[in-house]
Amino acid sequence: MEKQGKRRRRVVLVPAPFQGHINPMLQLGSILHSNGFSITVVHAQYNSPNPSIHPDFSFLPLPDTSSDHNILAGHLLAFVLQLNTNCKARLQECFAQVMRQQDSDDGLIACIIYDEFMYFSGETAEDLNLPSIILSTASASYFIARTALIQLKTEGQIPFPEFRSKDLIPECYPLRFKDLPIFKKLEDFLQLVNKASNIRSSSAIIYNTIDCLENSSLAKIQQQCQVPIFPIGPMHRISSASSSSLLEEDTSCMAWLDKQNFNSVIYVSWGSLALMDVKELVEMGWGLVNSQQPFLWMVRPSSIRGAEWIEILPKSLIENISKRGYIVKWAPQKEVLAHGAIGGFLSHCGWNSMLESICEGVPIICRPCFGDQRMNARYVSHVWNVGLELESELERGKIERAIRRLMVDEEGKEMQKRGKNLKERVELCTRKGGSSNSSLNKLIEMIMSF
Ligand code: UDX
Repeated sequence: MEKQGKRRRRVVLVPAPFQGHINPMLQLGSILHSNGFSITVVHAQYNSPNPSIHPDFSFLPLPDTSSDHNILAGHLLAFVLQLNTNCKARLQECFAQVMRQQDSDDGLIACIIYDEFMYFSGETAEDLNLPSIILSTASASYFIARTALIQLKTEGQIPFPEFRSKDLIPECYPLRFKDLPIFKKLEDFLQLVNKASNIRSSSAIIYNTIDCLENSSLAKIQQQCQVPIFPIGPMHRISSASSSSLLEEDTSCMAWLDKQNFNSVIYVSWGSLALMDVKELVEMGWGLVNSQQPFLWMVRPSSIRGAEWIEILPKSLIENISKRGYIVKWAPQKEVLAHGAIGGFLSHCGWNSMLESICEGVPIICRPCFGDQRMNARYVSHVWNVGLELESELERGKIERAIRRLMVDEEGKEMQKRGKNLKERVELCTRKGGSSNSSLNKLIEMIMSF
């Protein structure tokens, strides 16, 4: 008994296999590990995390699904739905394996924490009578937008006519119809959202967000949910985890940044999933060059439809880029945003990128691509007022103008001031007694009580 008393309790994590989901889940793992829990990560083989970066965690792979071609073809929703169907039996085996080990010298399972899009984990935990908690890696407002989408679809208002696209959705300020997370394969998305929104027997929902950013959305969710919600973000700030980057970071850009003036560089990144056409790549290149601001541009290999990488760019453009820009295939993004030379971020508005930018007080030019990104952009430009949105198609003149508005004009200086102010408010939330800190303490108490 004495030995058992000293044993660490074990938390099993099930992340969704995408960079923007793996990062917060592993950050949560580090936070829980530093609070005395052992961690097992059950993961898909596609995009599997690198165990050597997390030597304190155990890793158990789920089987390969036959659907990786769906990813390559851009059918992410089909991939996720298939993963949920294909991996259930193996997940049961994984949980059983961890439970058997707890009879030897391993910690007892306290609970399963699973990404909301890996909902089969909630079903399996329920079957095995294990406590579970959901992690939502997106913003709290995404939940509200999804609920509104389901409601509007039931009322027959989706798809909506073009003339309504800029109308505000009732009781969803600041969201307009065009900001809803509408996918081409809407039925697949609604199926996924319905499954993800079903909390089953889960005991709580964790959000990687901060009360001072999303107070009213969090309050609305708490009204709708029967279980406590814990906004404990920004997790990348609270956790001591090393980078869980799936691609190799090109750190050479840090030396280039060291040579640039304070607050002068615009950083450009489309995140880990969004794609671009060759035409858009060329327009982006000229827009950046013509803005006459120094820029650091992350162009992910295979992110350009119809090209491997930037070899497709005209020679004259490449020459101009080399005069004031620096291109990498993958950046150490958190370090980049924290560098004093960075004065703005031209982003696809993935939620992690938004949090990372807000935490450094870097104002944002929003160019959302899909899913939650459109609504994140709307919050940046209309609620937190720390950025502007590039709403039209990617065209060099418009990109140049947006960059100059943010980096040169008085308007941009005001956004920078508001960005610094927001950063300070976020920092207060993570300190002892702050909202995220209190939520984290309550979460840990809950897990200990299982
Ligand atoms: C996806 C969805 O597109 C997004 O809308 C959702 O909120 C989360 O999942 P992704 O495209 O991966 O997101 O963007 P984001 O959420 O911003 O996450 C990307 C992560 O990769 C960030 O943590 C960022 O720091 C990291 N990154 C990105 C790098 O480390 N280097 C890079 O060069 C680019």
